[in-house]
Amino acid sequence: MTVISAVPTLPVGALFSQTRREFASWYSRLWGPLGALATGVSRPRVGERVLDACCGSGASALPAARAVGATGHVDAVDMAGALLDQGRAEADRQGLAHLRFHRGDVTAWRADAPYDLVQCCYGVFFFPDMEAGTRHLVDLLRPGGRIALSTWVGGGMDTMVRRAREAASAVRPLPAPPAARDPRTRVDSADGLAAWLRSLGLVDVAVHRVDYRVPLLGDDAWMFLPGAAEDFPFGDSPAVYRVGGKIFALLSEGAVPPRVSLKLPPDEVLAMRAQHPDTVLPGYHLNKRHWVTVLLSGGLEAEEVRELLGQSYEIVVASLPRRLRPA
Ligand SMILES: C[S@@+](CC[C@H](N)C(=O)[O-])C[C@H]1O[C@@H](n2cnc3c(N)ncnc32)[C@H](O)[C@@H]1O
Repeated sequence: MTVISAVPTLPVGALFSQTRREFASWYSRLWGPLGALATGVSRPRVGERVLDACCGSGASALPAARAVGATGHVDAVDMAGALLDQGRAEADRQGLAHLRFHRGDVTAWRADAPYDLVQCCYGVFFFPDMEAGTRHLVDLLRPGGRIALSTWVGGGMDTMVRRAREAASAVRPLPAPPAARDPRTRVDSADGLAAWLRSLGLVDVAVHRVDYRVPLLGDDAWMFLPGAAEDFPFGDSPAVYRVGGKIFALLSEGAVPPRVSLKLPPDEVLAMRAQHPDTVLPGYHLNKRHWVTVLLSGGLEAEEVRELLGQSYEIVVASLPRRLRPA
């Protein structure tokens, strides 16, 4: 997940493509379960034609394709090419040849035949005109077809983002999120969503509220440093944190004691190692002139480790070409 202040500076497809790693890292805890829950409510039937609008990497399109089976068809449309690539790879792995991923603006999508079901998870509020865009999706249905939308309940996602931002702000002050008018507020309660759907001319409207708790882990907050992303290129450990694709921290939480490797100016590397010889070690498997490995065993206060982390992040950001630096 990238910091929200990046939203207005990039078109939505480019933003989601650029943050594909962060998006993927939330898949198993957030997008995947929520997509499966949404499809449990929209209930695609065997043989149906489905449009999954704003499909991302296929969190709801994949279960829909499994539900309709090979006699059905699912078009999954999104503007973020990098997420579509992830979805295609997973569809191939699952042998879902009747699930097709398409890159494009779904508010202008045309199909050869109408759909039995259109579903859109956490997408409509990105449309420049939420109402016109959603009407277009409704127009793609056959008479009597169904549309299923999922939105965030007020105080839901916002709480998670706020908590993580607060924790990350302890390391580096974050820019305030933009105070733009937020179309999500129109559809962030059961009553509001139902009223809005009826205003589009839809009938038999039912809203299902699902209370889903996302387990937040301590290191999630790191990802709220602007542009920061986590990945696991070496298996389960260490977790690698990058900004603009370059590493600024490696965290081995499961090691005894847990440890984090960070980048520092070369003179500070020497000074820290001399001052804390039992806690600040030469960077493990890293260039020892620039990196240290800090044992998280109490030799340094948490605040000191946070400061080193912030410093490491700043050093790496400063080394990036201007176009890759986070806003
Ligand atoms: C929050 S993500 C949700 C993705 C997916 N539905 C899921 O639940 O994992 C929103 C997605 O909407 C896509 N999106 C926003 N506006 C769009 C548009 N007009 N046409 C196609 N995709 C759009 C973005 O690229 C992004 O992938």
